[in-house]
Amino acid sequence: SKAVNINEKNHLEIGGCDCLDLVNTYGTPLYVMDEALFRENCRRYKNAIEKYYDGKGLVVYASKALCTTAICKIIEQEGLGLDVVSGGELYTAITAGFPMERVYFHGNNKTYEELMLAIENNVGRIVIDNKEELVMVHEIAYKSGKKVNVSFRVKPGIDTNTHEFISTGQIDSKFGMAIENGEAFEIISKALKLSNLNVMSLHCHIGSQLFDLELFKLAAKVMLEFVAELKEKLNIEIGELNLGGGFGVKYTKEDEEIDYDSFIGAVSEVVKGVCSQKGIKVPKIVIEPGRSIAAPAGITLYRVGSVKEIKNVRKYVAVDGGMTDNPRYAMYQAKYDAVIVDRPDAPRTEKVTIAGKCCESGDILIKDIMLPEVKSGDVLAVFTTGAYNYSMSSNYNRIPRPPIVLVKDAKARIIVKREDYGDVIRNDIIPEDL
Ligand code: LLP
Repeated sequence: SKAVNINEKNHLEIGGCDCLDLVNTYGTPLYVMDEALFRENCRRYKNAIEKYYDGKGLVVYASKALCTTAICKIIEQEGLGLDVVSGGELYTAITAGFPMERVYFHGNNKTYEELMLAIENNVGRIVIDNKEELVMVHEIAYKSGKKVNVSFRVKPGIDTNTHEFISTGQIDSKFGMAIENGEAFEIISKALKLSNLNVMSLHCHIGSQLFDLELFKLAAKVMLEFVAELKEKLNIEIGELNLGGGFGVKYTKEDEEIDYDSFIGAVSEVVKGVCSQKGIKVPKIVIEPGRSIAAPAGITLYRVGSVKEIKNVRKYVAVDGGMTDNPRYAMYQAKYDAVIVDRPDAPRTEKVTIAGKCCESGDILIKDIMLPEVKSGDVLAVFTTGAYNYSMSSNYNRIPRPPIVLVKDAKARIIVKREDYGDVIRNDIIPEDL
């Protein structure tokens, strides 16, 4: 499904709410999340996992895509697990009352304090990334007299063809422990001797915004062969294999569209095949999508300010947000589609570049998009902004962050308040001797 429709006034609408009404009530810029589509995306994965793994398996939402207390609540209601990668994300989950046994704590350099918070709150899995972390987790577990369920982040050594900055499973990666030089084997062997750890599972994540099914199949194969090796050499049963997230999302016409169900089905064939060939039990399979659950459910609404035509060069349309609420063009040259909300289907007659309001030339939201003629005062909707937008936003130039409204059945509810200038200076101090 899609997050948006065109209503009888010929305005863009999301969750039954007219986008012009939304900006009149909540101002711009405004993040809007379609609750029904977000939930549908959760269910789509849950149903697929249950179908292909005989009712077993777990979908864990990667909360880095979008993490707020209300989002955690929805994830809980949908029966998913939650991937957190920092004390802040963990704290959000705790505050939302998220069931801790379904929390997976990732990260390549968790601090002692973060690990303490996780262990005190009995998170379901600590996904150990490195040898130093193994020592810390055991020490905290031992001191608190707990048995901690751990997983291990393994590099399957796969080069993906996504943007370099979001590729993670290759050998030259800061994440995880390598298989081929024995690093992962050695760390896991050590962990088995530590009495306060339960060695439960392995994890890998090969990258993000991936469309190539073969990469996911290869990762599953490499990981299961490693599970078999661990059984053979260490006589342990790895009962759970977390294959990570990374399923690509269609941002513009140029992008492919993945059929997530058949993707998961195809990977399950490989999983079952390798397991029977190696004579091991099919572990509980976990997947960890973030972007593909959140991105399609979100749009961002902006007000157009200046429109500047540089003859024979470019027409800049500047909006009242920018890299502070969506840094993805600045970071990855990411592409987006957009419409003008009161004429969403008007012919796209001119090429413009949507710029933000930050003091930075790279502050672009969309380079070279075809739109109907844009005027100052128009409201622009940028699509597919539900993931890695709010979660990557900043206060650069001391710009307050926009709010998030959650829409459903023609009702809108604030789930994150708009920041004000007070928020921007909240932690500033002028020392007394200044
Ligand atoms: N699991 C782990 C361990 C991850 O590192 C990630 C993403 C995911 C799951 C979820 O991947 P997804 O399904 O969302 O692709 N800021 C970048 C994306 C960074 C993704 C990092 N890890 C962007 O805006 O494109």
